[in-house]
Formats: sequence, structure tokens, C-alpha cells
Amino acid sequence: MAHHNPWPNEGNTGHIWDEDIRELDNPPPLWWMLAFYASFIMIIFYALYYPTIPLANGYTKGLAGWTAVKEYHEDYQKLKDWRKAKFADKEEKLGSLSAAQILQDPDLKAYSIATSKMLFGDYCAACHGVGGQGNPNFPVLADDDWLWGGKIQQIQASITNGRVGNMPARGMMGNLTDEDIQNVADYALALSEGKGDDPQYAKGKAVFAKGMCLACHGPKGKPLAPAGAANLTDQIWRFAPNMNPTKEDMRKSYIHTITYGVNVKKNGEYLPGTRRAQMPTFKHRLPNADVNIKRLAVYVHELGGGQ
Ligand code: HEC
Ligand code: HEC
Repeated sequence: MAHHNPWPNEGNTGHIWDEDIRELDNPPPLWWMLAFYASFIMIIFYALYYPTIPLANGYTKGLAGWTAVKEYHEDYQKLKDWRKAKFADKEEKLGSLSAAQILQDPDLKAYSIATSKMLFGDYCAACHGVGGQGNPNFPVLADDDWLWGGKIQQIQASITNGRVGNMPARGMMGNLTDEDIQNVADYALALSEGKGDDPQYAKGKAVFAKGMCLACHGPKGKPLAPAGAANLTDQIWRFAPNMNPTKEDMRKSYIHTITYGVNVKKNGEYLPGTRRAQMPTFKHRLPNADVNIKRLAVYVHELGGGQ
């Protein structure tokens, strides 16, 4: 810094570097000062108008009474009103037509499917998987293997009233011995591979008849009418330890099912080990249940396996 000021009259601050670099004392431009003061005024206006200052318990609410949450709710309500008005006639039709009639109408059918996806995600996917592809111990809805029937009315009834399958435990099926159970499990697995008539499984086949398995599962392992029993002639497993079980996994699983049955109760309590398979009833659980059950029934029907 220089020791004396060779430019005493130019209004510099006296700070001089490298011989001639000076700091001048000029006022900021007028436009800049105006903007500067305007921003102060804006702050005061803003602080009064909007919620601004945090307090010990709460915050200043502001003259406008505005909050981001309130604005969100108002906009959301507007969107809902708009949707309601736009789709009112379709919703009304869903209310007045039967699920079977909705299926006949391509436009309404597409609308039902589109508006079911969220509902299915919220109310069904936890058990049946996204898109109904199933979970271990919860049935696939996206195939044509039905426990309770794949006609639209049957699907609608499954959702409305729920379903509880029943299979007795060993003691109630002709007192099966351990050997009987292993033989019949092997026979049932053979059925799933199309080898039920193989003489090697004759013993198991005899148990299948003696244990009255055929009353529910049908004489050849395929139920004659849908009443909750599993189809044993395919490899769509109902009770499996994982999504890709080995044959040994399924042999164990079958032996377990045949030993303890499905939903077996003793003195009002579930028998320890019994398979639990319950589709909950949705008639009191869904909002706007009448319309939403029809909508979901159409959706499930169209997942791929409707009859
Ligand atoms: C808590 C688990 C759970 C939830 C949630 C659930 N389900 Fe189910 N659902 C089941 C079980 C378990 C079965 C099989 C019942 C049986 O084994 O007899 C089933 C069976 C069904 C069936 C009959 C399938 C067939 O093969 O005949 C339909 C249709 C169905 N569910 C639709 C739905 C729809 C639609 C929803 C949502 C509104 C839903 N489920 C929610 C557990 C559930
Ligand atoms: C009263 C009817 C009934 C009788 C009798 C019956 N079952 Fe079942 N069975 C069912 C039902 C219901 C299910 C469970 C279906 C479901 O909830 O998904 C089932 C499930 C099964 C399964 C599980 C299939 C899978 O994919 O995991 C096997 C295996 C089986 N039964 C074999 C037998 C054998 C063997 C017998 C005779 C010893 C027999 N059942 C007798 C109704 C019956």
C-alpha cells in the first residue's frame, strides 16, 4: 500500500495497491438502491401476508391464511370434482349394470380395469401379489386355475363374501397311517406330472379312494365343480415354501397338508399345523363396495383366466 495519496481529489478511500490500483468511494447506481429498498418492503409484506416466523408453539399465521397443505387439499379437491364430473356417467353405469353386463361393454370394461389397478394395489396385492401373480400360500389370480370358479359371478362372490376352503386332517379321512400319507402324497405329485395311472403309484391311488380324497379333488385329481379344493393335476401349487419349489419341497408340503388339513378347527381353535387359507370378505371393507367389487371382479376376470 502506498504511503501517500497521489490522487487526493478523485474520491478514493486512500487504499492503494501496486502503485496505482485504488479503491474508489462511489455510491451504488440508483436502480440498484431502489431494488434494494424494494426488497425490504417485500420482506415486510411477505412476513405479514404469509406464515413466516416460527414461535415457541406454532408460527405466525399471516394475513392470507395460506398454507401449502391447504393449497394442496384445495387443488386435490378440484381435481377430484373434475374427475367425478368427467366420469360420473360411467360410475353411474357401473352402479346400475351387473358385472356380467359390464364385461359385455368394451368401453366400461376398459374403464373398470383402468380404475381397478389402484384399488387392487391397496386391498388385494399384499396377499395376491401385484397384478395377481400370487405369493407363497396365496393363490394366483392371473391364471385359469380356480378354486372357487372363474365365472364373473363366482369371482364377484369370492370378493363379496370371502372364501374358506376346508380339507379334513388325517384322522378324519379313514385314519391314514404315515405310510398311507406318503403313498398318497406321491400319487398326488404323480397326478401333477400326468403320471397318475403309472402302476408304481397304485397304493397311493387306493388311499386316494379310501380317504375320500376324490370326493373333493375329483376321481382324477381335478375337482368336478369348483368348491374350494385344489386342482391336483397341474403344478400350480397352493401351499409351497417359496415361489419355485423343488419336487422334494412339494412332497414335504403335500405330506403336511394331508396330515393337518386345511382350516381344521378343534373346539373352535385352529388345529396346530393346519393350513390357513382364507379369503377375507370385502363387502364391508371396501369403500363404495357395491361398485368397487364389480369393478374388481371385472379386473380379476380379465387378468387372464376369466371363464
Ligand atoms: C389377507 C389375504 C387376502 C387378501 C387381502 C385378499 N385375498 Fe383373495 N384370497 C386369499 C386367499 C387365502 C384365497 C384362497 C382361499 C382358499 O384357499 O380357499 C383367496 C381367494 C381369492 C379368490 C378366489 C380364487 C379362486 O381360485 O377361486 C379371488 C377371486 C380373490 N381372492 C380376489 C381377491 C381380491 C379382488 C382381493 C382384493 C379386494 C383379495 N382377493 C384380497 C387371500 C386374500
Ligand atoms: C372336504 C374336501 C377335501 C377332501 C376330502 C380332501 N381335500 Fe385336499 N384339499 C381340499 C381343499 C379345500 C384344499 C385347499 C385348497 C386351497 O385352499 O387352496 C385342499 C388341498 C390339498 C392339497 C394341496 C395342494 C397344493 O397345491 O398345495 C393336497 C396335496 C391335497 N389337498 C390332497 C388331498 C388328499 C391326498 C386327500 C385325501 C387323503 C384330500 N386332499 C382330501 C379339500 C379336500
